[in-house]
Amino acid sequence: MDVKEAVKQRRAYRSFEPVRITKELIYDLAECAQLTASCFNNQPWQYIFVYEKEMLEKMHSVLSSGNEWAQKASLVIAVLGKKEDDCIILDRIYYSFDIGMATSAMILRLTELGLVAHPIAGYSPKKTREILGIPDNIDVIALVIVGKKSEKINPNLSDKQIEAEKNRPERKKIIDFVFYNKYK
Ligand SMILES: Cc1cc2nc3c(=O)[nH]c(=O)nc-3n(C[C@H](O)[C@H](O)[C@H](O)COP(=O)(O)O)c2cc1C
Repeated sequence: MDVKEAVKQRRAYRSFEPVRITKELIYDLAECAQLTASCFNNQPWQYIFVYEKEMLEKMHSVLSSGNEWAQKASLVIAVLGKKEDDCIILDRIYYSFDIGMATSAMILRLTELGLVAHPIAGYSPKKTREILGIPDNIDVIALVIVGKKSEKINPNLSDKQIEAEKNRPERKKIIDFVFYNKYK
């Protein structure tokens, strides 16, 4: 078991080459979500795995400006859920937390398998709903863009995005977000 290695290897790369997506891979990823912890074991997550060429092409129109790189995806995972499907304890709403944990398990598994899994918020939920037939009462929480990393940098990237292909974007210092025993 080497989870730390997958955590270290995971990167939100934006330069892709095509990779074949199989039903076995999708089942493997689904199992990662299935086994994730959730409040009261509510399992609020739902996923659409988009991998057919025609559907992937339709999904180009949902991408926000700056996310054109995602047109090279071999698989787009639509991350779905609704707050009523999970614990709501006074003002604490747990569905995004649980769905985030399940999606993170998938992302780490994809990393372990040598693929890139890049979550994005830059898309139109409305257009995604229309294309994928998602009912209005279900939130489109994120899309995960999956592909095989290309050594050739995608020519559509901005300078900042090119820099991020080469070096991991800077992180806060641990001392700025970790407290020992007491807040500050
Ligand atoms: C919820 C979420 C939304 C994101 N949205 C976008 C996006 O719309 N476009 C994009 O290029 N990257 C997006 N990212 C990727 C982040 O920019 C990236 O994870 C961050 O810069 C750190 O880089 P690293 O993941 O390679 O360490 C998103 C990441 C998360 C978790």
